[in-house]
Amino acid sequence: MTPFPHLQTAVLTDAAAEMRRRFPGAQPRAGLILGSGWSTALRPFTERKTCPASAIPGLGNATVAGHPGQIILADCQGVQTLIFQGRRHWYEGEGWLPVVLPLFLMKSMGVRQVLLTNAAGGIRADLEPGDTVLIRDHLNLMGDHPLRGPHQPLWGARFPDLSQVYDPAWQRQIREAAAPMGAPLKEGIYAALSGPTYETPAEIRMLAALGADLVGMSTVPEAIVAASCGLKVAALSCVTNKGAGLADQLLAHDEMLTQLQSAGERLASLLEAVWRRLSHE
Ligand code: HPA
Repeated sequence: MTPFPHLQTAVLTDAAAEMRRRFPGAQPRAGLILGSGWSTALRPFTERKTCPASAIPGLGNATVAGHPGQIILADCQGVQTLIFQGRRHWYEGEGWLPVVLPLFLMKSMGVRQVLLTNAAGGIRADLEPGDTVLIRDHLNLMGDHPLRGPHQPLWGARFPDLSQVYDPAWQRQIREAAAPMGAPLKEGIYAALSGPTYETPAEIRMLAALGADLVGMSTVPEAIVAASCGLKVAALSCVTNKGAGLADQLLAHDEMLTQLQSAGERLASLLEAVWRRLSHE
């Protein structure tokens, strides 16, 4: 296989054709990618049809606890939505195809607006476990780029503009939806590293100096390709821990999932309010 299957027309269009077969007649206008532990936020969505991610060539099977690996066509507030439950990560080592393919599939199904979600470490002092944070911008520190390789016009122009990766209008809708809710929606800059280790305390200090408020191992590649191919993208982090060295504890994935579970109902209410806003469009 070439090192760039996600840049090959046939790979992309074959996967899109299989999606059409699996979800005949579907007309989703919103998309949602659920990060680690975000499944509890699915409460406001009513399932129409599901399909295992492994049924779509190129997506493969999610390998990380907290990432079940299915595609769900669902309704929320009357908005038909395509949900990827279980994202794939760069650190899984299977290349960019499983990481970015969901965005192409969404686009090919007619989705216009995508919300990416993740679990993140908080770097800025006011970011506490349990906080929800709207990502305003990002630092790509993964050491690679999902569009490096032969130019594939299906993903957009050769040199996409990233001055507004996270769509300003979509961000405003999310802010407005969150405003009446109890906890304030904080905002920040997300730095993506490849993982799979968590950072060292020195790396967290470096990231703070670079202007990062949050750190994680996902979202940025998806946001890049989404923006590049013309999807409106926004992203929400749930802070599961303070960055390494900032609190008196070591970092463990299990504890992050527990943290997300306790945030679940709040995340669900936020998504419901955001989707209510979408339904007025
Ligand atoms: N670092 C990287 N990724 C993460 C973290 C973190 O501290 N918390 C949740 N995902």
